[in-house]
Parts: sequence; structure tokens; C-alpha cells
Amino acid sequence: MTENAHKQVDSKGFTVWFTGLACSGKTTIADALVPLLRQKGFKVERLDGDVVRQSLTRDLGFSAEDRRKNIERVTFVAKLLTRNDVAVLATFISPEVSMRANSRKEIGNFVEVHVKASVEACAARDVKGMYKKAFEGLIKDFTGVHDSAPYEEPVDPELVLDTERHGVDECVRQVMAKLVELGYVDA
Ligand code: ADX
Repeated sequence: MTENAHKQVDSKGFTVWFTGLACSGKTTIADALVPLLRQKGFKVERLDGDVVRQSLTRDLGFSAEDRRKNIERVTFVAKLLTRNDVAVLATFISPEVSMRANSRKEIGNFVEVHVKASVEACAARDVKGMYKKAFEGLIKDFTGVHDSAPYEEPVDPELVLDTERHGVDECVRQVMAKLVELGYVDA
């Protein structure tokens, strides 16, 4: 593979798109990458489901249709940032293969990372107590818990992080190594 074989857009920017269940580790891993990418000289921006849903997409809920709109809007933002040389770290459940395929097409310099942990492992972490509520039926359409809200695993992601086996530091190391391999970041 040549150095920049992965790049679709002629920009220093790229988007690392972390997809996975709630409590899989997306936010923790992305947050830990911010200072490392800044050290490498990048302007870095974080787009996170919990944050974006309080502003840009606060009118949206968790129906399949609303999730598609959520991902469509944040994809637009990620696209603008990416083409302006920003390293974007996007953390959204983004449960459908087709919505992520569309984000890839729109953004171009797109690195899909599947942050993988079973529903059982995520529910055991349950940092915000949401799985408990979902199992009790107090939250409906909860991803991975209810049949109405399935999670479609990525078919061919650039990277799979097994957060049941590996800690944050190892996952961060794997992402940085992948970004170097793909030609986005200098070794
Ligand atoms: S997405 O499906 O549209 O990509 P997003 O990543 O923005 O979801 O938001 C997920 C966050 O919303 C979770 O971390 C969780 O805190 C919260 N949340 C609230 N209700 C739900 C639900 N029904 N399913 C999943 N997450 C939910």
C-alpha cells in the first residue's frame, strides 16, 4: 500500500468514526486520543452523541428515523471539519450499516472503528444506569436490548477494538497504529 492510499479527500484531515453499543468504550477511547493527535500537530474536534444530542440534534429521539437524522447532521459537520484539515473523533452508536456507509461516502477520509463489547459486558459497566432502566422497560428502543433497536456490526471496518479483552491504553495504541498505517499520521 502506498502512503496515502486510504485518502479520498485531499486534506490533512480525517474522521475516525467510532461505532458500537452504549458503554462499549467509544467516548473513553476517543477522549484519550485527543492529546496524542494534538501532539502530532493536528487540530482536533470531538463529536459525541451525548453532547451533540444536547444541541445540534436535541430535537431528535431514538427511533430509527431520528437516529438516521442524527447521523446525517453530524456527518455534515464532520465532512466540513475533515476537509479543513481537522482530525475529527466521532463517537456515535450509529447502529445501521447503511448510515455509516453514507457517512464514509460523504466524509471521504473515513476510518471506521468498531468498538466491540457484548451487550452483557456493556450492561455490566452501565456507567449511566441506562441498561438497568432499559431492562426494566423504563427506556424503550434501547440499542442491543430491544428488538426494535438492533445494532448492525460493521462489515469491513478499518479496525475492531475488543474492549472486553483490551484496556484503554492498548485500544488507543491500536488506533494510532492504524492511522499511521493508513497514512493519516506520521510515525
Ligand atoms: S445514535 O443511535 O443516534 O447513533 P447516539 O450515539 O447519538 O445514538 O446517542 C447514544 C447515547 O444516548 C447513549 O450513550 C445513551 O446515553 C443515550 N440514549 C438514550 N436513549 C437511548 C436509546 N434508546 N438507545 C441508545 N442510547 C440511548
